[in-house]
Amino acid sequence: MILIDGKKVAAELREELKKEVLNLKAKHNKIPGLTVILIGDMAPSQIYVRMKEKAANEVGLKSEVIKYPSEVEEKTVLEKINELNKDSSVSGILVQLPLPEHINKQKVIESIAPKKDVDGFHPMNVGNLSSGYDSSIPCTPLGCYLLIKTIEPNLSGKKAIIIGRSNLNGKPMTQLLLRENCTVTVTHSKTKDLKAECLKGDIIVAAVGIPQLVRGDWIKKDAIVIDVGINKTDKGIVGDVAFEEVSKVAKALTPVPGGVGPMTIACLLKNTIECFKKSN
Ligand code: GUN
Repeated sequence: MILIDGKKVAAELREELKKEVLNLKAKHNKIPGLTVILIGDMAPSQIYVRMKEKAANEVGLKSEVIKYPSEVEEKTVLEKINELNKDSSVSGILVQLPLPEHINKQKVIESIAPKKDVDGFHPMNVGNLSSGYDSSIPCTPLGCYLLIKTIEPNLSGKKAIIIGRSNLNGKPMTQLLLRENCTVTVTHSKTKDLKAECLKGDIIVAAVGIPQLVRGDWIKKDAIVIDVGINKTDKGIVGDVAFEEVSKVAKALTPVPGGVGPMTIACLLKNTIECFKKSN
């Protein structure tokens, strides 16, 4: 079984991006900038934002974090985004989710200029991705996709099973794999006989947030299995895949942690650089 080392692939990607930032700096006499908006004091969001900031600095991007207390008015956030949209030193804008209940997530996402939308959540980017046009691609599915390609460069005709239909992962993952000519099945909480569906998959992407849902006897021999789950349990952090069991059957499997997580952050940096290139 191949253990897909997301840490290593992400480090290699960051090295490439570092060189690209230097080249862009030489060419344009300025560097790509990422601005992250963090609202409230939820511990996971704070940790993720700190990791994003650190990674951005490491590859030489200009990085800024704007923090608001959880009671901040929606209007204040929208005005700030409007200001950042006009600021030519800001290439990419990310508003860390989830948001407090009184702030309308859709309104916030739609207020970000599509060309600065490093998350790829703006409806224009979602539409362009599904229509096969140029778009920002959400960081987590992009990271999953790049990991799958390290194992199988030619995905044409492969059967992919996506577990979870979220806007963050399942839906954009579907579009990315369709673009590669996979036959894609999207499964979710109402799917009948999920095990039978998984057993058909050459590729499985699990992103549902149910600890160790995917078992060894759900997996076709030599399948590629990508585990997006990060679940806190009594036994520590586990994924959506029962690692020990599945590792005995799969051709390749991502660990949790050290699989998809580092790739998500590296892809955010990649998207920031892509946004810079689009506006220069
Ligand atoms: N919260 C958890 N994942 C993400 C993500 O990919 N982007 C944003 N903006 N917030 C998140």
